[in-house]
Amino acid sequence: MLTKEDTNYLTQTGPGTPMGNLFRRYWQPALLSQEIPAPDSAPVRVKILGENLVAIRATDGTTALIQERCPHRGASLFFGRNEEQGIRCVYHGWKFGTDGQCVDMPNEPAESDFFQKVKAVVYPTKEMGGIVWAYLGDAEHQPELPKFEWAQVPESHRHMTKVTLDSNYLQSVEGDIDSSHTAFLHGQVGKNDLEVSSKFFDSNKALRYLWSRDKAPKFFVVETPHGLTIGARRDGGRDHYYWRITQWVIPSVSMIPGEVGGTQRCNFRVPMGDTDHQFYRIDYIPQRPLTPEERYDFEHGTIHPELKPGTSRPVRDLSNDFLIDRALQKSGTYSGIRGIVEQDYAVTSSMGLISDRSTEQLGTSDMGVIRARRVMMRLAKHLESGGEIDAHMDGEIFFMRSPALLVDKDVPFDVGARRAMDAEEEWSRDVEWATVMPVLEDENVPGVNA
Ligand code: FES
Ligand SMILES: [Fe+2]
Repeated sequence: MLTKEDTNYLTQTGPGTPMGNLFRRYWQPALLSQEIPAPDSAPVRVKILGENLVAIRATDGTTALIQERCPHRGASLFFGRNEEQGIRCVYHGWKFGTDGQCVDMPNEPAESDFFQKVKAVVYPTKEMGGIVWAYLGDAEHQPELPKFEWAQVPESHRHMTKVTLDSNYLQSVEGDIDSSHTAFLHGQVGKNDLEVSSKFFDSNKALRYLWSRDKAPKFFVVETPHGLTIGARRDGGRDHYYWRITQWVIPSVSMIPGEVGGTQRCNFRVPMGDTDHQFYRIDYIPQRPLTPEERYDFEHGTIHPELKPGTSRPVRDLSNDFLIDRALQKSGTYSGIRGIVEQDYAVTSSMGLISDRSTEQLGTSDMGVIRARRVMMRLAKHLESGGEIDAHMDGEIFFMRSPALLVDKDVPFDVGARRAMDAEEEWSRDVEWATVMPVLEDENVPGVNA
């Protein structure tokens, strides 16, 4: 439970707010590189941390993020002409370079040097991993770009979707790090989530069998330099626990558990205003390119959302009750809603634009949520009182994974899973196979012996 005051503190990220100041210590995804595909291509509106901006790709191919309101009389530079290494306002023709400096004022006398005194706000940008990143903080504290593994692999290895969602960022982050909801919200009715059949059976599905049969995992949370490592422990049979590990990265990034050797996942929740956010969902396979079938599945399946054509907005949203199918809810998916992202969005947007935490009743499965809130409050208050924080100055600390794996019962998860979390070793499927197989045989799981 949170007081209304604390909820406001955590959820407001506009200029001058304590939480906004914390967010401004970190690089944030501003837009996809492909949204500004070519030099001098059309400007794109970007709203981030309560600031309205315009992104352009300049004549030399570099990117720039500039205040949307023209410094002259406030016309939107979204309508501007992106030309010759700058953007020109269509109202009176003032032109601003990629550093924000006004370089031309054609409606003022030619001898006037007034233009030299006018400068627009421009934020630093860098490109990495198909994303244009923005840094909205002060230059003195600018860290390295966060070197997430997905941003280092070739484009062929990943699939990324940008979605605009109408709710505060925090309730979505809380959903990302609350892994007890998955067996319900994303589950199936009347079966172990995935049909275990000889045709499709593999060790990943074997592990997911463990996941779906135990719906009340025990949570363990470890505070780390990047934020939190959250372990959800389930019975893994004879000598092992089955751990699903979530990495929460300050301030609003979550890495969702993925089977070792399989698809890895990362969620970014970037505040736009206080009642909307951009969601970047990235799936990738570190070791190899996605197959055409996998890519098709990401583009047309149920993991990445179905978007309204030409927009970043989902087809299924609160306005149409997410097209919930009550028959499907009785005998198909647990929620009756199609799509993993839409299922998450349905529950988080149904809480209201900014969820009121003052009436919550939190249980042991909410431990990660409680700890993440505490860390955010602590860091923002520390900054507010004039203290300093280590805002991930070293980009290498982001190179990690969120594995789902079996660990010996007598080994703590953060020790036993260390090499998998650090992405230091390629996993042998045979090891997990040999470990999980007896469990399935013990329980006569259909298909195992077929
Ligand atoms: S408002 Fe932009 S040039 Fe006048
Ligand atoms: Fe979810």
